[in-house]
Amino acid sequence: MLQKPPNFGTRNKGKAFSLTATRGGGFRSSETRTQDAEETRDVGRRLGETLQPGDIVALTGPLGAGKTVFAQGVAESLGIGEPVTSPTFTLISEYEGNMPFYHMDLYRLGTPDEFVWLGVEEMLNGSGVSLVEWSEKAGEELPERAIHVRIEFSNDGGRIIVISRPGGEAA
Ligand SMILES: Nc1ncnc2c1ncn2[C@@H]1O[C@H](COP(=O)(O)OP(=O)(O)O)[C@@H](O)[C@H]1O
Ligand SMILES: [Mg+2]
Repeated sequence: MLQKPPNFGTRNKGKAFSLTATRGGGFRSSETRTQDAEETRDVGRRLGETLQPGDIVALTGPLGAGKTVFAQGVAESLGIGEPVTSPTFTLISEYEGNMPFYHMDLYRLGTPDEFVWLGVEEMLNGSGVSLVEWSEKAGEELPERAIHVRIEFSNDGGRIIVISRPGGEAA
């Protein structure tokens, strides 16, 4: 199914997201509902199995939505054995699995410039997988090729996970 990505901007609402500027203009989106953390981790695992060196996963959603739980699933599929925790204070943690895994948490980032100053260029364009929690904080500095994952609370206490991959024709 081809469609425009859902509104990822909570903080950046109104500010044009680079999402819509992707070459080809299209996004392929899929929505999954999960009832507990294990199910969310499993959706992360399944995405992780599809990732290639150089891929970027941009995670958005409110505090406590399950971004880090999702990241743990991704990390598992990349062969990372050690526990993955949110690098809220360090902003970036690096792990070595089948390939490097850069886990970023931009919750405390001030401006998109600071994302660049962290020295992420080499990571984003290297041979590892980068996963960015609070990716909206990177604004336009986030590469357009990122796979977007938005996790929302649903009314029944579970979560709604929307994964949008850039590419394809515009809807
Ligand atoms: N369906 C669900 N999916 C993910 N997490 C859930 C779900 N239901 C409850 N939880 C809980 O929500 C919390 C999510 O925490 P975390 O992954 O750190 O969120 P974030 O990184 O988005 O702030 C965990 O304590 C987890 O057990
Ligand atoms: Mg987190």
